[in-house]
Amino acid sequence: MSQPMDLIIFGAKGDLSARKLFPALYHLEYCGLLPKDLRIFALARAEQTTEDFVAELKPKIAPVVDATRWTEKHWRAFAARCAYLRMDFGDEDQYQALAERMAESRTRIFYLATPPSLFDDICTSLGRSGCLEGDSRIVLEKPIGHDLDSCRQVNDTVASYFSEDNIYRIDHYLGKETVQNLLVLRFANRFINTQWDQSCIDHIQITVAEAVGIESRWPYYNKVGQVRDMVQNHLMQLLCLVAMEPPNAMTAEGIRDEKVKILRALRTIDDATVAEHAVRGQYGAGWYHGEPVPGYLEEDACSDAASDTETFVAIKAHINNWRWAGVPFYLRTGKRMAEKLTEIVICYKSLPHNIFSSGDNIPNRLVIRLQPNEGIEMQMVSKLHSLKDKMALVRQNLNLDFLGSSGLDRIPDAYERLFLDVIAGDQSLFVGREEVEESWRWCDALIRAWHTQAVEVKSYHAGSWGPTKAELLIEKDGRSWHE
Ligand SMILES: NC(=O)c1ccc[n+]([C@@H]2O[C@H](COP(=O)([O-])OP(=O)(O)OC[C@H]3O[C@@H](n4cnc5c(N)ncnc54)[C@H](OP(=O)(O)O)[C@@H]3O)[C@@H](O)[C@H]2O)c1
Repeated sequence: MSQPMDLIIFGAKGDLSARKLFPALYHLEYCGLLPKDLRIFALARAEQTTEDFVAELKPKIAPVVDATRWTEKHWRAFAARCAYLRMDFGDEDQYQALAERMAESRTRIFYLATPPSLFDDICTSLGRSGCLEGDSRIVLEKPIGHDLDSCRQVNDTVASYFSEDNIYRIDHYLGKETVQNLLVLRFANRFINTQWDQSCIDHIQITVAEAVGIESRWPYYNKVGQVRDMVQNHLMQLLCLVAMEPPNAMTAEGIRDEKVKILRALRTIDDATVAEHAVRGQYGAGWYHGEPVPGYLEEDACSDAASDTETFVAIKAHINNWRWAGVPFYLRTGKRMAEKLTEIVICYKSLPHNIFSSGDNIPNRLVIRLQPNEGIEMQMVSKLHSLKDKMALVRQNLNLDFLGSSGLDRIPDAYERLFLDVIAGDQSLFVGREEVEESWRWCDALIRAWHTQAVEVKSYHAGSWGPTKAELLIEKDGRSWHE
């Protein structure tokens, strides 16, 4: 029998809660996957009743929820689990009321969907006010700090009140079906597993491109930049999953240990190598889907017309171990790119000799797409069906289209998987302390080298794939970005 549980969401009226957390919880309700007596406490600053909170929540989440799964019956059942509590998270005295509401002995899951600057106050106040009982878990959203020192500070504070096996650091990419499938693909298929190293792979590309601009997030983003916003977390996690050795079991500890080894083996980009290995970009004005869009420094919320914060980065990374010796990992991520796209492309080496007189020696590519259209595609070479051309070669795709092959009509959102795992106490898709700190160590060195070498930010047109220098980064090695 499942334990009674309380889920306490700090920041229940924020953007993340409306777009991701509550829709995911509703979907789990619809699927009958929430524990029967799970209570949801929604905490935020506004003065309102539970009735007003759920009445306001309904029109926000209904359009986000899959239409075929929205029913009044399930909504009512979901709303009945919710209780709203007004709180200022910075005021320790207000935690007493929360402690009283959770008086019964239950497993407590505290979800911090708040600005990270509040993590410290919230943990301390929870600890001092008697809100933490037994098996209390905490879920932290990114970013954990803005550099190694601040990350350690957050980790230390949280560790004063929660043991590491009760801390769930979210990188929602890990909750995506395709990312989990990457692990299965690698470790459950012999023919892939045995060809996953420098003897067969020429190079690897990871692209995380967003089509949106910074817009109203400008004041926050301008202090952060793309390395801290996307590389430190999502890109590093994808890199680790692609590059890590097989863990001895699919446990949180096994997976985390292997990921940490990769982060430690990542070659530091320093003053001597930064110009050759990393490109910074910032979007200028351009076009998106036929509409003109402003540049970063022309956004309404821009308050520093001379800002050189990067909105794009391209990196050539190397992993110092036997498996990946000599295999570059080209990483790129940016805002206001040509399209929203996240994919990993494994580019195999060409065969040593082409015995077919027609056609080039075309190397295989394995494309693992996280968005849009999650799926995996192996680009193969096969014979063109033709009487005229006896041995003409064509590139064709073997497709693992998740929707088509699973018989499902929707792929669950990452947050659905992650909520289920927190409830089940399974940390395998969450980020461990050492991982997040090692990742900051590497990113800090890159940012430091940019500053000491005064590396210029290169402009690119909104709606493009980044500055020309990012093309050159890969083209000077005789390769090109996968389009
Ligand atoms: N939005 C996303 O897509 C996204 C994606 C990844 C990670 N994250 C992370 O998730 C967290 C939340 O992001 P968000 O976009 O949802 O932020 P947000 O829209 O600013 O929401 C923050 C929430 O926290 C509440 N809050 C702030 N200070 C408070 C205080 N002192 N006392 C009580 N409530 C307080 C806000 O209440 P008010 O409504 O009263 O201001 C609001 O409900 C951040 O750490 C962010 O980095 C967000």
